[in-house]
Amino acid sequence: MTESLKVFGNIPSVRELLERHRRAGESIGLVPTMGNLHAGHVSLLEAARRQSDVLVASIFINPMQFGPSEDLSSYPRTFDADCEVLQASGCNYLFAPQVEDIYPLGMAGQTVVSLPHISALHCGKSRPAHFDGVCTVVCKLFNIVQPDRAWFGLKDYQQFHIISRMVDDLNIPVSLIGMPIIREDSGLAMSSRNGYLSAAEKHRATALYQSLQSAAASLARGQEFRLVERLAAEQLQDAGMKPDYFTVCDRNTLLPAQGQETRLVILAAAWISNTRLIDNLPLDL
Ligand code: PAJ
Repeated sequence: MTESLKVFGNIPSVRELLERHRRAGESIGLVPTMGNLHAGHVSLLEAARRQSDVLVASIFINPMQFGPSEDLSSYPRTFDADCEVLQASGCNYLFAPQVEDIYPLGMAGQTVVSLPHISALHCGKSRPAHFDGVCTVVCKLFNIVQPDRAWFGLKDYQQFHIISRMVDDLNIPVSLIGMPIIREDSGLAMSSRNGYLSAAEKHRATALYQSLQSAAASLARGQEFRLVERLAAEQLQDAGMKPDYFTVCDRNTLLPAQGQETRLVILAAAWISNTRLIDNLPLDL
């Protein structure tokens, strides 16, 4: 397919259109996003393009996953540029609904998909309703688009873990693919929120990835997990970042690792000025 990108907001029309492709035996791939597309998103689109007959992207800045004091109103909205990126990536359809399409009765009485325990850890500690909002909207997107496969970035490691669990728990017939983190040359993980940073802040923010790398080296030398976490938090502070959390986790459960585990992921979040950044590093001991 090489035609131009078609944009939809209306749920019945996107359903009808995709049903036609499904009946023709074509596989449907989905890349859900909140727009402001960068090379991280493009890596998902390219992988999805290779493995789908019909490639659908969504852009929806989901109010349900933002806390009351978070950046919903200032989140970058770059729709025209995003359409160009999607077109260049060979995307066939963009589903870009309005808030009223997704939450026609408002969010207050909306059914919520909520994964207990794990949603309250790590990012969930400082963003209590965040993952309920993510699960609810991703579940809706899966029901609307009914993709065979959907691509997500492992930059949002906890998000991917939670969505995978939701898909298993609710028997949603979709295969998920988690893609590696795309970074700037400096090591900083690409993120729409990097756009909030000045050049100097962006430079200082490289401390987040550096702290993960030093922690991984210390763990490989056999240093104790909780000590590694404390030293990393200090390293972040010294670099002018305010750590939110820095935790050596069991990669299968995302629970803090206790000492015997060998398949690990270090999850971290830190503030630089008013911007909260996340990053992670998987590690096999
Ligand atoms: P958004 O932040 O726009 O990210 C969309 C997808 O791109 C996510 O799967 C995310 O992990 C991936 N991504 C972002 N930066 C990346 C990077 N540097 N390398 C690789 N992948 C990257 O995540 C969301 O939107 C939302 O929570 C969403 C899943 C769309 C639900 O609203």
